[in-house]
Amino acid sequence: MAGGSHVGALDQGTTSTRFILFDRQGRPVAHAQREHEQIFPRPGWVEHDPAEIWRNSQSVMREALATARLDPSALAAIGITNQRETALIWDRRTGRPLHNALVWQDTRVDPAVAALAREGGIDRFRGRTGLPLASYFSALKLAWLLDAVPEARVRAEAGEVLAGTIDTWLVWNMTGGPEGGLHVTDPTNASRTQLMALDRLAWDDALLDAFRVPRSVLPAIRSSSEVFGETRAPFPGVPIAGILGDQQAALFGQLCFRPGEAKNTYGTGCFALMNTGTEPVASTCGLVTTVGYRLGDAPPVYALEGSIAIAGALVQWLRDNLGLIGASAEVETLARSVEDNGDVYLVPAFSGLYAPHWRADARGILAGLTRFSNKGHIARAALEATAYQTREVLEAMEADSGIAVEALRCDGGMVVNDLLMQFQADILGRPVLRPKVSETTALGAAYAAGLGVGFWPGVEALAEQAGVDRRWHPRMEKARREALFSAWGRAVERSLGWKR
Ligand code: G3P
Repeated sequence: MAGGSHVGALDQGTTSTRFILFDRQGRPVAHAQREHEQIFPRPGWVEHDPAEIWRNSQSVMREALATARLDPSALAAIGITNQRETALIWDRRTGRPLHNALVWQDTRVDPAVAALAREGGIDRFRGRTGLPLASYFSALKLAWLLDAVPEARVRAEAGEVLAGTIDTWLVWNMTGGPEGGLHVTDPTNASRTQLMALDRLAWDDALLDAFRVPRSVLPAIRSSSEVFGETRAPFPGVPIAGILGDQQAALFGQLCFRPGEAKNTYGTGCFALMNTGTEPVASTCGLVTTVGYRLGDAPPVYALEGSIAIAGALVQWLRDNLGLIGASAEVETLARSVEDNGDVYLVPAFSGLYAPHWRADARGILAGLTRFSNKGHIARAALEATAYQTREVLEAMEADSGIAVEALRCDGGMVVNDLLMQFQADILGRPVLRPKVSETTALGAAYAAGLGVGFWPGVEALAEQAGVDRRWHPRMEKARREALFSAWGRAVERSLGWKR
């Protein structure tokens, strides 16, 4: 059994970075959190400062330990989980980023997507990568960075530039940065770059060629759970033993270890994943095929994913861009100030629409307004948008896998919203469950790290720790449910093709 009484999970998300300490029973005992700046240089562009993310990561690790009055030596291991697809390049020698990171929501590579899709359509790399062509994935972001930063391509060919997703950036810095930092990633993150062959879990020459990304900048693909190395910063000597993209971490933290088990995480975006076992399942219904996790040398476990770009981000938009609410939590009160949506629909296609539509030319639309409509209806429409989109991807998931999802396991920041959870159950016509530990993303990373060092003996031990906190049962009549969903579909139709 590994020394140390706790496992730490560093959860580097789209809007904030958290470090959560878990005890041997998988209970969160302390946490610290810091938000980082969202940089919007132009419409459709979204950037993060990687140096700020690294600074915040160090701060939250120290702060959580201080809160728990624990010494770093109490940590048996650290697991990393991260916003996926967000990509950056940096100088191998100085450790300095060569540009802000391009965030997964960034749409600046839309023209490159269209150019590649002209030959063979948006599904031309689906067979090899599980992914449609979209601005969402990392490959074209990396190519853009290598072209936009002066000298970057030449320097990359000379081995002076490193590239990676956020997990790679953090592990490199934590293990020494320019002084011998490890340049690694795991298959879940690598599967979101669109540069990895999904069946072999290896960078693929044809893809590297097509996307114009040199192999020399890319990290080594290891597993999701193994001892990668030891930390040197912000404190020395703690094994880093887990890396999982945040949505896959939530799948793991929700203990979806068997084929057919699914979860939905309501964060900045909303991501439903279903474990499909050790063979990748190709999607014909607009989902993506992705790596769920890989424990050490064991065969990888695959998942089908319905990626929804905007969920909690819509509530932040109501707060920050419209000023309709002062704090995110107020959205529920505002939504409850009206009886129903008053026939108002809000399609948040801010980065186009992802699953199951994959339409870069979609843009946000507020539909059904009358003189009767007020801000309560808009708040309600914003919450309902997440639930409608979830139904779209869940139906696609069932069609692709042939497996019926009996009940949906939910997690993420928005699951405290009772109105949303009830509406979700209503619009799906099936129960929605919330686990006791709602921090499932961090928990999944902690599990991967703990398994990697033997802190927990195996996944069976983890299953004993699970428990349901709350269950919402559908209460809406079928006719009403279908009428609402069909009106949503009409609003979606209007949003498609808006950006010509
Ligand atoms: O694919 C993007 C996803 O990983 C971001 O997750 O929780 O930061 O919205 P989140």
